[in-house]
Amino acid sequence: MSIGYANGRFVNIHEPVIPIDERGHQFGDGIYEVIRVYNGKPFMLKEHLERLFNSAEAIKLKLDKTLEEYERLIKEAVEKSQLSDCDVYLQITRGISIRNHLFPDVPVSTTMTVRPSKKLDSQLRENGVSAIFHDDERWQNCYIKTLNLLPNILAKQSAHDQGCYEAILVRDGYITEGTSSNVFIVKNRTIYTTPLSKHILPGITRMAVKSIIESLELPLAEEKFTKDDVLASDEVFITSTTSEVLPVVAVDGKAIGTGKPGDVTKKLYAKFQQKIANL
Ligand code: PDD
Repeated sequence: MSIGYANGRFVNIHEPVIPIDERGHQFGDGIYEVIRVYNGKPFMLKEHLERLFNSAEAIKLKLDKTLEEYERLIKEAVEKSQLSDCDVYLQITRGISIRNHLFPDVPVSTTMTVRPSKKLDSQLRENGVSAIFHDDERWQNCYIKTLNLLPNILAKQSAHDQGCYEAILVRDGYITEGTSSNVFIVKNRTIYTTPLSKHILPGITRMAVKSIIESLELPLAEEKFTKDDVLASDEVFITSTTSEVLPVVAVDGKAIGTGKPGDVTKKLYAKFQQKIANL
């Protein structure tokens, strides 16, 4: 069953728990993580929590729990839900205080939901998805997993309205990432992905896929690439907690490679599945 958590207590997922003066709600002044649970086991939980701590530091948010306490809390929530395949959404904001831009001296506000994993349509996974290019209209600090997602939402909706799954964001002529995913391309068997910088989120799935690529000894280049590079590539795929490793077979209406999921993508997805099975 889906469950919620708010500031120290587990609640019915439908229970209203956010007061009017909560800063996540008023300012988007907070951070979050989305963690996938497979067969009752959270995937790369430590890495997600390390990123949460990095995000907190970047926005000068003082967390009130240790990494181990978050780990225990998440595991307790998953157990309580009795769901074996689920998504944990954890959000921490700068607390509840009368609206004022300056930081309030109040405890942080922590909320969490545990819900059954959204399963991707098997046709999409088998045949691949399409994407559009979209200007990256976000701020300079996209490495922080903050609640301020309006540019991501607008770009994703624009993709959806054009019958596409994802928008691939372009800043200063180079691909940064997707609205909620990291982007990889394959050209002549070499796999390219945008190098980490302040302009992209250091994806946990990106990290997992990178280690799979290294274990398979496939050539990997963390190098910037352009829209033309994407369109001239043999394969494109995106990675994220919810999409895992997902082939992209057309961008802006133009087929990538053969227009079908490529061998490298399929191999990496199979290895990713093995990694999950061995959790
Ligand atoms: N989004 N880039 C952005 C902008 C993202 O929002 C995400 C994830 C990723 C992939 O990161 P990871 O592999 O750690 O999930 C990259 C989550 C799933 C979301 O906002 O729902």
